[in-house]
Amino acid sequence: MMSRRPLIAGNWKMNCLKSDGTALAAGIAEKYAAAVNPKCDVLVCPPAIWILPVVDAVKGRIAVGAEDAHAAESGAHTGDISVPMIKDAGASFVIVGHSERRTDHHETDAEVKAKAEAVISHGLTAIICIGETEAERDAGKTIEVCRTQIQGSVPDKATAENVVIAYEPVWAIGTGRTPTTQDVADVHAAVRAEIAAKLGKETADGMRILYGGSVKPSNAAELMALADVDGALVGGASLKVADFWAIIETCL
Ligand code: PGA
Repeated sequence: MMSRRPLIAGNWKMNCLKSDGTALAAGIAEKYAAAVNPKCDVLVCPPAIWILPVVDAVKGRIAVGAEDAHAAESGAHTGDISVPMIKDAGASFVIVGHSERRTDHHETDAEVKAKAEAVISHGLTAIICIGETEAERDAGKTIEVCRTQIQGSVPDKATAENVVIAYEPVWAIGTGRTPTTQDVADVHAAVRAEIAAKLGKETADGMRILYGGSVKPSNAAELMALADVDGALVGGASLKVADFWAIIETCL
């Protein structure tokens, strides 16, 4: 089996002013630079307006990503930001299809796929988010929902290098609630099997599948120890250097 290098990614959402954000990013970057032979990658995804100062602040020590992108290269899309702009600013990852985008902005699987295709075509890495709502979980549809989202949102040209999957149960985001480790293990195994069905076993074996949803220092170690969990997408706990670093340390 291919070895997968874990990725710990911070999703700041609509948080931080410039001074807080650059201090946060620089704090993590300094700690990471001081780590001997780190065994995981670290990424911070600030609001788009702070990508430039955050890229400066991290000095190339950790990766910087965007929280979303428009699928088109340029044009009449007031308020949107394109992948070439994100790349030009120095970012190398883009989160697409986060549940807050799917809910607040009514993004469909087809739109998420188009965004991921744009990310890939410009040589950046797409973090494609999937996950079930509480009602879907209660109805026993978790795996079915994830499989449908994978089929609909993951481009056919996805590889282990240009795509990362983030499994984020919607009901676990920002709530302090998480699935049991057995549930996370079962869903991640099913996600990898669906990727294998779509893209082949080799790609599936190499692709990183992150867990997201109320990851914090107190639960990170047991989640990151699961065989098919290759890192975390962290919201609230990525906004403090000490908390985010404690999560990174579980994979370091
Ligand atoms: P949370 O958010 O860690 O605050 O639950 C995770 C996410 O939405 O990516």
